Amino acid sequence: MQTVVNRPAHTNGGERGAGGKPARRGPGHALRLFAVDAALVVAFVAIMSVPLTGVPVHEWLGIALAVGLTTHLVQHTTWIVTTTRRLRTASFRNRLNYLMLLALFVGFVSIIASGLLISEAALPFLGIQPPEKGFWLWLHLVSVGWVLWLTALHIALNWKWLVTTGDRFIRRPLATILGGPRSSRRP
Ligand code: HEM
Ligand code: HEM
Repeated sequence: MQTVVNRPAHTNGGERGAGGKPARRGPGHALRLFAVDAALVVAFVAIMSVPLTGVPVHEWLGIALAVGLTTHLVQHTTWIVTTTRRLRTASFRNRLNYLMLLALFVGFVSIIASGLLISEAALPFLGIQPPEKGFWLWLHLVSVGWVLWLTALHIALNWKWLVTTGDRFIRRPLATILGGPRSSRRP
């Protein structure tokens, strides 16, 4: 099943190059996307495990995630610009995906901004004293509530890409090094 119709450039299905032709990019591009995606998944899981990491590590990881998300968005600038331009004529499914990503973006901005405003370690370390927690703590926790589900949905929609690319850049090279089979295809 094709889950995301308007695919990013590495699958040659969504972004268009000059003359409306599908944009073609090399394996380096896919590797960079994969590295950022994988780092985001790991960071997000760690950030959600506050009792395990403690609040100070949680805060620094949250700040690192903000940098990672900015990189992720910069990597998808072409998708964002193209899809925004074509939104009026886009299919219902692509509009829904776009709306979902918009909500995800607003959610992450809200979590990170409120997180900074309730910071107990990172901001005081930088010499900034945050205001009273009250509303900001409430906003932090409420935003986490729905961003968690949207992130899970976003990852699920891109699951096939994550697994295929993981196989290409991690499993197959490892199998080659360890002398195992070169391909994931079964005989
Ligand atoms: C923990 C957070 C996130 C993870 C793990 C994640 C992961 C992924 C993955 C695996 C892909 C497909 C491969 C790729 O093109 O890189 C993707 C695509 C994309 N992501 Fe994210 N993402 C996250 C957050 C966000 C946020 C907050 C936005 C904000 C709008 C966003 C926007 C996009 C866009 C525009 C695409 C390309 C279009 C699409 O596949 O729907 N992502 N993301
Ligand atoms: C996307 C990033 C983030 C996510 C998903 C997230 C998620 C959470 C969650 C689930 C909790 C509740 C933990 C619990 O009570 O067991 C929490 C608490 C907290 N977060 Fe975040 N957070 C993020 C970013 C940040 C950032 C960037 C900061 C500050 C720099 C921050 C500061 C805090 C603080 C201080 C608490 C403890 C609040 C309290 O109980 O008084 N968070 N966060």
